[in-house]
Amino acid sequence: MVSRVIPVDPFDLVIFGATGDLANRKIFPGLYRRFQAGQMPMEARLIGAARSDMSCEEFRAHIRKSIDEFVHENKRDPKMIDDFIARLDYVPVDARGTDGWDDLKTKIDNTHITAFYFSVAPALFGDIAERLVSYGISDSESRIVVEKPFGRDLASAEKLNATLAEFFDEGQIYRIDHYLGKETVQNLMALRFANILFEPLWNSQYIDHVQITVAETVGVGGRGSYYDKSGAMRDMIQNHLMQLLCMIAMEPPYHFDPDAVRDEKVKVIRALQPVPAHDIVRGQYLGYHREGYDEPMPGYLEDCEDPNSKTESYIAMKVNIANWRWTNTPFYLRTGKRLRARTSEIAVFFKEPPHSIFDDSESDVNWKANQLVIRLQPNEGMNLKMMIKEPGPGGMRLVQVPLDMSFAEALGEGGADMPDAYERLIMDVIRGNQTLFMRGDEVEAAWAWTDPIINGWEERGDKPKPYDSGTTGPEDALMLMHRDGRRWRHVK
Ligand code: BG6
Repeated sequence: MVSRVIPVDPFDLVIFGATGDLANRKIFPGLYRRFQAGQMPMEARLIGAARSDMSCEEFRAHIRKSIDEFVHENKRDPKMIDDFIARLDYVPVDARGTDGWDDLKTKIDNTHITAFYFSVAPALFGDIAERLVSYGISDSESRIVVEKPFGRDLASAEKLNATLAEFFDEGQIYRIDHYLGKETVQNLMALRFANILFEPLWNSQYIDHVQITVAETVGVGGRGSYYDKSGAMRDMIQNHLMQLLCMIAMEPPYHFDPDAVRDEKVKVIRALQPVPAHDIVRGQYLGYHREGYDEPMPGYLEDCEDPNSKTESYIAMKVNIANWRWTNTPFYLRTGKRLRARTSEIAVFFKEPPHSIFDDSESDVNWKANQLVIRLQPNEGMNLKMMIKEPGPGGMRLVQVPLDMSFAEALGEGGADMPDAYERLIMDVIRGNQTLFMRGDEVEAAWAWTDPIINGWEERGDKPKPYDSGTTGPEDALMLMHRDGRRWRHVK
């Protein structure tokens, strides 16, 4: 199945922070792939803007290198790359001064859709927004794209929202959470709302609990000083895992419409209960010696260069949602760095049937409840564990087997070619579709839930538990489950 590509309307996209890490790794390689797929019209123009005083030619050479490094070999077509590079332009701008802004204005074609990607520190959002308006570069149809971290607590998020609101309407602001651009995350909506199968069972009467896991193998080396001010709670739970939880827990929106979807997500976030200290486990990875390497891998405290840091590189928590659908069905969340494998998944554990007709004393019944596992990465797909009878004449023996679907295999060629989250999200900005972007009130509601949790451990002076790199995290996280008579799913 080859996916249909519908070109978007002509646009000018200005990327502030165009020489930065995100632009190199994700934004420009993603734009190239959309160009190659035929989604970008010939009139589209991409204008890099940054502090570095480089020429357009130097900038083009720089992006050519990013494409070589971050686009898969089988997508690197020399002629396509030349054509793509030819639509790049560059303007040095001083975000806090006057240099470059008049120049930038002359480059913009206001008959096109105009979008401005703020791939810069949040401290610059206000300065750039103000100049886009005062220099007459943006108009009332322009879109701005901002990245996380969107604040570090409720007060700073409110302040950022207020700053942007001075210059742009909410309908023009696209707050990116790249997890919403992942194929499987959107597939959650299709799974729940395009099939009759699950929705009648999607509540605390039939679902025992939900586990959301985002495990990474990487440490924080290289970005330790940023990460140390953030930690797993701010870096992952407040945004990415929260979005996954919302997708599972939300009520059906009346339509797949940006505000209808976001209204339902906000209701879930507001129904999240405060989390007591005994429902949280925080950890910090230790260093280790890799086979074949002379130098040991540093532990978290070395990576963040603060031997007294109390920031968590791992967190597991039990979250309750107080509403009719979910009361008594806990959601267990866990995420961390330097774990055994890079695995992200959502596992929905159904309850056992209320009565078994099979007599397990006479036949070899090994009863297990159904599980639905939605894999985000690697190998995006779904797995539904079902009970069947084991073949053979030996009585009624039950076994649990997986109905396993890998999206790439199920969708053939089209599936293997799934766009990266950033590609999809940037095209949505141009299409003017905010469904997969966070609304201001949603971000604030998420911080309002997060703040007391963080304040709690800061006031108590809690220290994270050390855990060995390459494991599943601190031992205490197992206890969080065991004491409820449950266990974490084994992730490879
Ligand atoms: C980012 C976090 O938002 O998401 C990183 O700041 C994390 O710490 C990354 O590694 C994970 O994204 P992905 O798409 O690789 O799961």
